[in-house]
Amino acid sequence: MKIAIIGAGDVGRALGTNWAKAGHEIRYGTRTQEASDEMTPREAADWGAVVVLALPWAAAKDVSADLGTLAGKPVIDCMNPIARGPDGMGLALGHTSSGAEQVQAWLPEAHVIKTLNQVGAEVMADTSGFALRPLQLMAGNDDGAKSVIAGLLDDLGFEPLDAGDLVKARLLEPFALVWINQALMRGKGRNWAFGAMPRAGQ
Ligand SMILES: NC(=O)c1ccc[n+]([C@@H]2O[C@H](COP(=O)([O-])OP(=O)(O)OC[C@H]3O[C@@H](n4cnc5c(N)ncnc54)[C@H](OP(=O)(O)O)[C@@H]3O)[C@@H](O)[C@H]2O)c1
Repeated sequence: MKIAIIGAGDVGRALGTNWAKAGHEIRYGTRTQEASDEMTPREAADWGAVVVLALPWAAAKDVSADLGTLAGKPVIDCMNPIARGPDGMGLALGHTSSGAEQVQAWLPEAHVIKTLNQVGAEVMADTSGFALRPLQLMAGNDDGAKSVIAGLLDDLGFEPLDAGDLVKARLLEPFALVWINQALMRGKGRNWAFGAMPRAGQ
């Protein structure tokens, strides 16, 4: 599948490398187009059958405005709308909206799916070595797009789990902060992931 990743930073490169190993074709949308697999964000968005937004939250609105309509395309939003306030790291919005719902409002004809925000880039690059397949929840409004993205999560080595419609991104974004808090503030480090453990025989 042709996957366009907008933003070639830690997450963009981790996902692209892992998907390429699974046989997918990857192009990055970047500001500078320094490598042969890089295009402008608009060119990459036109090229991809699936588009991944892997940008800092602060850049997301302006970059999204230049991507075209992305009509009918599955668009993965892996961004966490993180802001630093007087109490430390938190979310810039939540409870009554989410970053993913903002992205959907900027790209109303796209099928936005919130996922790949709940674990660090190291695990996105390599999901091997865990007792269970690392869990990756996803939220979105279009069942067909979610089915495509579930397949791509599976190709990365994740266990996909449908959280429901895009409003459920309000659950997935603070959930990411649980991982971030443990990884960065509580000393657990970055090589762990959430897993869904079925009871024996269920
Ligand atoms: N890092 C993680 O473990 C992790 C895990 C889950 C979710 N996330 C989320 O994933 C997103 C990306 O995180 P990251 O760690 O990959 O960040 P990062 O390493 O800083 O990469 C961000 C990328 O976005 C690009 N970018 C910024 N502004 C741009 C613009 N106007 N046009 C095109 N590209 C632009 C940057 O390009 P330049 O080099 O040109 O600046 C950079 O390559 C964030 O929203 C973060 O919350 C991160």
